[in-house]
Amino acid sequence: MKFSTLSLLSLATAAAAIDINVDDQASIKAAASDVAKKLRALYPTGESWFVAGEFGKLPPPPSGKDIGYYWWEGGAAMGAWIDYWAITGDDTYNDIVTTAMLSNVGPENDYQPPRVFASLGNDDQAFWGIAAMSAAERGFPDPPKDKPQWLALAQAVFNRQASRWDTEHCGGGLRWQVMQANNGYNYKNSISNGLFFQIGARLARYTGNTTYVEWAEKVWDWTKHSGLLTSDFKIYDGFSIQDCVVSGQGKIMWSYNAGTYLAGAAYMYDYYTLTGNPANASDWKNITQSLLQATDEPFFNRNDGLPNIMRESGCESQPPNFSNAATCNTDQRSFKAYLSRFFAYTYQLCPFTRDFIMTRLRASAVAAAKSCTGSPGGDTCGLSWLMQKYDGSTYGIAQGGVGEHLAAMELFQNLLIQQVKTPNTQQTGTSKGNPSAGSGDSALTAADLRQTGPTTAGDRAGASILTIVCICLLGAFTWFLVVD
Ligand SMILES: *[C@@H]1O[C@H](CO)[C@@H](O)[C@H](O)[C@H]1NC(C)=O
Ligand SMILES: *[C@@H]1O[C@H](CO)[C@@H](O)[C@H](O)[C@H]1NC(C)=O
Ligand SMILES: *[C@@H]1O[C@H](CO)[C@@H](O)[C@H](O)[C@H]1NC(C)=O
Ligand SMILES: *[C@@H]1O[C@H](CO)[C@@H](O)[C@H](O)[C@H]1NC(C)=O
Repeated sequence: MKFSTLSLLSLATAAAAIDINVDDQASIKAAASDVAKKLRALYPTGESWFVAGEFGKLPPPPSGKDIGYYWWEGGAAMGAWIDYWAITGDDTYNDIVTTAMLSNVGPENDYQPPRVFASLGNDDQAFWGIAAMSAAERGFPDPPKDKPQWLALAQAVFNRQASRWDTEHCGGGLRWQVMQANNGYNYKNSISNGLFFQIGARLARYTGNTTYVEWAEKVWDWTKHSGLLTSDFKIYDGFSIQDCVVSGQGKIMWSYNAGTYLAGAAYMYDYYTLTGNPANASDWKNITQSLLQATDEPFFNRNDGLPNIMRESGCESQPPNFSNAATCNTDQRSFKAYLSRFFAYTYQLCPFTRDFIMTRLRASAVAAAKSCTGSPGGDTCGLSWLMQKYDGSTYGIAQGGVGEHLAAMELFQNLLIQQVKTPNTQQTGTSKGNPSAGSGDSALTAADLRQTGPTTAGDRAGASILTIVCICLLGAFTWFLVVD
């Protein structure tokens, strides 16, 4: 009885589970495609989720649960699917990607749509901006001629953000939030500045325009001097402009911050290589290598018998005592997606990083596949890859799963990065740019800044809740350390 139940169970699991062989292309593609489908299935109302800025408008969370998606994660998903197409050749999602990418641009074609403007963060806008940049670099099908073009959209985001560079506090840097009424307006953080740095580096490499490289170097220098970058090349989260010093919860390290700066440095290295400037290329090679090595602890190797497996150590539970993985909030559940993506970008541009990166992506994928064994379907992915079994993360339209499946999808697909064409520059790409996109006076900015605050309580809650969650998380994390 016991035996037959067991074998029935394992048969049932075998049929659905993601059974990845990291040495076999077809198996990797099948895994990526399976998870992409899971991700898509989270939007049962169909493509309306992706149009007119609707992506991210999930039903109100069940009480006590921190589920409900911010707008930025839609941009992150589009970036993931653009790479998915470039890597696997599967164009199943291209139509919804194009629709979403174009319906969220806002009236000024700069990814500042009115619906989200009241709660806009520089990082939110930048996630859509880097998706547009990827579309240009990957040769994703160009939009119709009467619509904004990928490269011009990335330039618009860059120009808007450059105009918000704030030299009045802490010697420079972007603030996190755009609107004064939001809590995060007084916070300068790594994700906002790191993405701005990365967009600058990517535009420099794509267009050859030196204005972008000067900006990228300025952001990098500021990051170094602000204390966000440590002397051993780790990236802290941020600090308040009241004291301009990283302290307390600001010291928490997130994998996407590390990945964002890493890929930016990789683009800088390649920019200087392509422009025949070996001395500067060599500086950026050193920086890229240092940033890469600095990801190892805390994101891959912590002497816990689980070598090279990616973990979001700021919120996932750690061995030896795994509890369920519930302390990561909705945003944080997706961060490993971007570390995987940015590892792959770095892999393409910097041959000297390849062994380090592939060792870790492969070990992580083997572990992650074992986490993708939950219900429904027997192929629902958990959050923790360290546990090497499904950790009980919930899945469903009002429950969650976007972050978990984004992360698994980007991890699996990027195992195939070695077969993908190097990102386009304007010599090889077709996307039309516009260096002055997004640099005019924004009617939206002027009008909305006159408002006293964000339009809805939910929007207003966003920024402050995130801060509170960070504080609680740091508490939980510290507790783990102490108890350990
Ligand atoms: C290149 O390196 C030199 C020497 O370190 C430095 O002065 C310069 O600012 C760097 N950037 C460019 C664009 O040449
Ligand atoms: C970067 O350069 C410094 C100084 O030249 C050197 O000490 C360090 O080992 C280099 N780092 C890497 C990762 O190559
Ligand atoms: C380079 O970029 C800057 C900043 O967007 C822009 O003002 C300038 O016109 C661009 N130059 C060229 C030659 O495209
Ligand atoms: C882990 O669990 C064991 C057994 O329940 C317990 O003795 C130990 O104190 C726990 N360690 C931590 C760090 O929680």
